[in-house]
Amino acid sequence: MSAMRLLMSCLLVNTVMFTGADLAMAANSEEQIIVVTADKMLDVVKGTVINHPQITISRGRIIAVTQAGADIPAEAKKIDLPGMTLLPGLIDMHVHLTSDPRYGGYRGLEFTDNFWTVVGVANARKTLDAGFTTVRNVGSSHYDDVAIKQAIDERQIPGPRIIPATYAIGATGGHCDSTEFPPSVTVPSPGVANGPDEIRATVRKLRKYGAEVIKFCATGGVFSKTDSVSGQQYSLLEMKALVDESHMLGLKVAVHAHGASGIKDAIRAGADTIEHASLADDEAYTLAKQHGTWFSMDIYNDDYILAEGEKNGTFAESLEKERMIGLKQRQSFRNALKAGVKMVFGTDGGIYPHGDNAKQFKTMVDWGMTPMQAIQAATVNAAEALGRSADVGGIEVGRYADIVAVKGDPLTNVTLLQSIVFVMKNGDVVKQPS
Ligand code: ARG
Repeated sequence: MSAMRLLMSCLLVNTVMFTGADLAMAANSEEQIIVVTADKMLDVVKGTVINHPQITISRGRIIAVTQAGADIPAEAKKIDLPGMTLLPGLIDMHVHLTSDPRYGGYRGLEFTDNFWTVVGVANARKTLDAGFTTVRNVGSSHYDDVAIKQAIDERQIPGPRIIPATYAIGATGGHCDSTEFPPSVTVPSPGVANGPDEIRATVRKLRKYGAEVIKFCATGGVFSKTDSVSGQQYSLLEMKALVDESHMLGLKVAVHAHGASGIKDAIRAGADTIEHASLADDEAYTLAKQHGTWFSMDIYNDDYILAEGEKNGTFAESLEKERMIGLKQRQSFRNALKAGVKMVFGTDGGIYPHGDNAKQFKTMVDWGMTPMQAIQAATVNAAEALGRSADVGGIEVGRYADIVAVKGDPLTNVTLLQSIVFVMKNGDVVKQPS
């Protein structure tokens, strides 16, 4: 159906609904038509700029995208954003809403378990206010990402759309285990699984309790004690079992991988996104292109970790590892981009303060992307990698009305994305210019 016909049919429904006694109620209900106009709009799907856009919204979805001047239904609520550029609600493919970087090292042990769920509630709001209307939460405890998602969907609290992974899966003693305790202190790690059978069973269990994506650790990491950041932690056989099981259940797979061998085996196993990808080499880029694997490289947070880590109580061992990989990861980002690897925007929010997600746009531009490419990584590409192109990541007829605005032109100054002044999610205005 053409945009105009869709609009007309919606208007017809609207006219019927807005008659008689229902009028007053309908005017404030979800049925209301909203028309947003602004100076410019980024068409991230085509990679172009549209002047004087006019976007019509009904029931949380976009029903028409036209130029200003096209007919506006008489009963529509108008939102005009002069001097501003509209873009789709942003997507961060790698966050941990229930983490706060200020409690580094052992400091987190001062709090009760559910403290972190409450922290996640506050961070959900900060993330949405920053213009991120969709996030993938790739690792948390106690199924608290599922709880936060449910509370947001039930409109109990404000926050982005969440794709929860629940627990990250990993090997005993690996990055996704709790490696900071002596043997006498037993800390449950429900994501720990060894060997294909245990791994498959764990994927099934996490899906049962709400996982919509599976995250696993293929290599060591920065914030884990005792492991080497580059060392591989699952065999190819184990990774294959995990990916096959997840795909059979309709779940995509996100892989924590810094070291080259772990990255390459994860790609060979059929994983969907490689997180970090810090020490990727030429062979890894070739494999990623062959398999259509996305790289989700968190290249901003090095600045934060090195500036604030010591004050935050981060383990000296972790800071040492960060100094080893931070610059290398940025160089890999530039090389992967040159090689033509597909990229999405993932920041590891929670390693740095939530709400600062958009700081990474500048780092991506400093290391080789055009502003449009960086924005596409956080919109149209991310939506594709999620398998959600019909719903999010573009201002297009049929997709959710997830729309944000900045003052001025983000293509000439990408740091403007750090000051999003207008946020609409699902047709609801959650932040307005003051
Ligand atoms: N969660 C990751 C890890 O612990 C964070 C890595 C941050 N450093 C970086 N340069 N991206 O391994």
